[in-house]
Amino acid sequence: MIRYLTAGESHGEALIGVVEGLPAGVPLTADDLNEHLGRRWLGYGRGGRSKIERDQVHVYSGVRFSKTLGSPVGLRLDNGAYEKDRAGWPEKMALEGERGDVERVTLPRPGHADLAGARKYGFDRPPRGPDLRPVIDRSSARETAMRVACCSTARQLLRALGIEVGSHVVRIGRVGFEDAEAWQERAGELLSEEGGARALYEKADESATRMIDPELTERCVEHIDETKEQRDSLGGAYEVVVTGVPAGLGSYAQWDRRLDGKLAQAILSIQAQKGVEVGDGVAGAGRYGSEVHDEIIHQNGADGGTPEDAQTLRRRTNRAGGVEGGVSNGMPLVVRGFMKPIPTLIEPLDSVDLDSGEARTTRYERSDVTSVPAASTVAEATVALVVANALLERFGGDRFEQIQRRFEEARSSS
Ligand SMILES: Cc1cc2nc3c(=O)[nH]c(=O)nc-3n(C[C@H](O)[C@H](O)[C@H](O)COP(=O)(O)O)c2cc1C
Repeated sequence: MIRYLTAGESHGEALIGVVEGLPAGVPLTADDLNEHLGRRWLGYGRGGRSKIERDQVHVYSGVRFSKTLGSPVGLRLDNGAYEKDRAGWPEKMALEGERGDVERVTLPRPGHADLAGARKYGFDRPPRGPDLRPVIDRSSARETAMRVACCSTARQLLRALGIEVGSHVVRIGRVGFEDAEAWQERAGELLSEEGGARALYEKADESATRMIDPELTERCVEHIDETKEQRDSLGGAYEVVVTGVPAGLGSYAQWDRRLDGKLAQAILSIQAQKGVEVGDGVAGAGRYGSEVHDEIIHQNGADGGTPEDAQTLRRRTNRAGGVEGGVSNGMPLVVRGFMKPIPTLIEPLDSVDLDSGEARTTRYERSDVTSVPAASTVAEATVALVVANALLERFGGDRFEQIQRRFEEARSSS
């Protein structure tokens, strides 16, 4: 199984990642990871820090001559803001020495981890006064940069087997595809192109809001501009699709082996993601069963057939999102994530200063209006890792060639 850990504070020197369990022989270069790190900066109206950071991951170990070695892959991503934004981060985030007169953050921001995290780790009442900085710095979504790098290693394994992961944004705030069928048809056309889900994400990347509909993109851009004027923020929704997934990943045999459960966890593990559905999960709850379940048909759509023909069946629709009984059924995996509006608002919100106990409002902070396009690229990465692990569970081995051989044998016999 592939595991990964990230370390690093948002305004510290660097983020560190270790990925363990990748088989030997997977094609991997820093450029492969940087492609997806660059995509994480996509999105209309992203400002502030995104202008300072230009993420470039350094690969330190676990790779030789552009192939993995089976040993842990070590990654490092320097935080551009550490030295460049002249806010004195090297002093404020000093690893050693005394705090001295380094400023403290004492006003917890609603919607952030500030208060819950400070209460948990005791940063709300140390002898020298509260300071929320440690919570702010580790709970920040800056961590997702290293997550994308780590999970994109798994994506390389998938790509080498012809499995692609892509995403597109379907809603920002009040503006979204009203009719799910309309977007599914459009996404379906892209998915049927040669690159599968890669064609989907490449198309989405052309849009300022990562949407596959130009008219919707325009309306969202307007909505973002208006919201900025109102000094507010927006959430939204996106869809992650995986093509080329063989049937038989995951299992119904035990609760923690269900593929849908793991996909849901992958999405909800990302900061600010508050909802997830597999296939048409939410809409399906309000429909008749006859409108929800995917009928089973012959590959060629014929009415009759032989027992041999019955070995290669398909579904008329994919409302289940490619998973039934916790097991992939050979259709593309479809998972949707729902993100709350980002909590840093230009408009102040009520809070209480932990130092003085006084009721105060949060101070003005420069902020993006929405991070849904960026979140959709992070979700792609976390989903890729889940699929890679499900694949290793089924076809696993220490060498890529072994996995490839078993994978292709299974594909040709199904
Ligand atoms: C890609 C991405 C970018 C984000 N950017 C911001 C941001 O610019 N400002 C902000 O206040 N929150 C941002 N967030 C959300 C916060 O990190 C998150 O809401 C906060 O850490 C609290 O966690 P929770 O919402 O899961 O409870 C972002 C989240 C993601 C996934």
